[in-house]
Amino acid sequence: MTETQPRAGWLADTRISYDTVATSYSDVTRDMLADEIHLRAALASFAELVHAGGGPVADVGCGPGHVTAHLHERGVDAFGIDLSPAMIDVARREHPDLRFEVGSMTELPLADASVAALLAFYSLIHVPDDEIPAVLGHFRRVVRPGGPLLLAFHVGDRSRLKTEGYGGHPMKVYVHRRQPDRVAGWVRDAGFTIKAQLLLDPDDSRPGAVLFAQRPS
Ligand SMILES: C[S@@+](CC[C@H](N)C(=O)[O-])C[C@H]1O[C@@H](n2cnc3c(N)ncnc32)[C@H](O)[C@@H]1O
Repeated sequence: MTETQPRAGWLADTRISYDTVATSYSDVTRDMLADEIHLRAALASFAELVHAGGGPVADVGCGPGHVTAHLHERGVDAFGIDLSPAMIDVARREHPDLRFEVGSMTELPLADASVAALLAFYSLIHVPDDEIPAVLGHFRRVVRPGGPLLLAFHVGDRSRLKTEGYGGHPMKVYVHRRQPDRVAGWVRDAGFTIKAQLLLDPDDSRPGAVLFAQRPS
């Protein structure tokens, strides 16, 4: 089933959906980065930017924490936040030495200028258009001046209601595909400067993008 307009209750639907698939999502994505050389390159660049200043880095919408752990292994003081309590349980179980907390990017439970950097890896894809400016406002609020922001997302022009996934489990979650220029416009409007843009698999039916931005000093 596909629809373009999110219904009320999208946040609860998203949380329940990822609670349902938490274990199977983790199984599917655990070794995913090993096959994704360009994503690894993006994360390596991000880690290098963070090393310039150091400090805690929030992985918002961290899921089972495999990206958080990848960054941690590269010397980044990364911690994870996710809407889904079941995802956070999995992340804590898989990475017991790292810090993971339940929370929503729509009401990001972090203090002003409290993180050196922030990444949202394929998690902003579930937030409807009209909520994006407020979410990016939170990102700008919590990243300290000069800190980098990394966004990864699916590219396209349509939104789709995903009704099952990760082994056939029921889901009710919107996946919003967006053009990089559109996302970059929102990011600029929130007060960041765009530093770089990477287009992934542009010849594929499911292209992606990674956007590097920075909160001005
Ligand atoms: C496609 S998964 C990506 C997980 C992980 N970042 C990765 O790259 O594998 C999307 C994640 O975003 C989380 N999420 C969705 N909406 C969120 C919100 N409003 N606040 C925090 N996390 C959210 C979901 O619970 C899910 O774990």
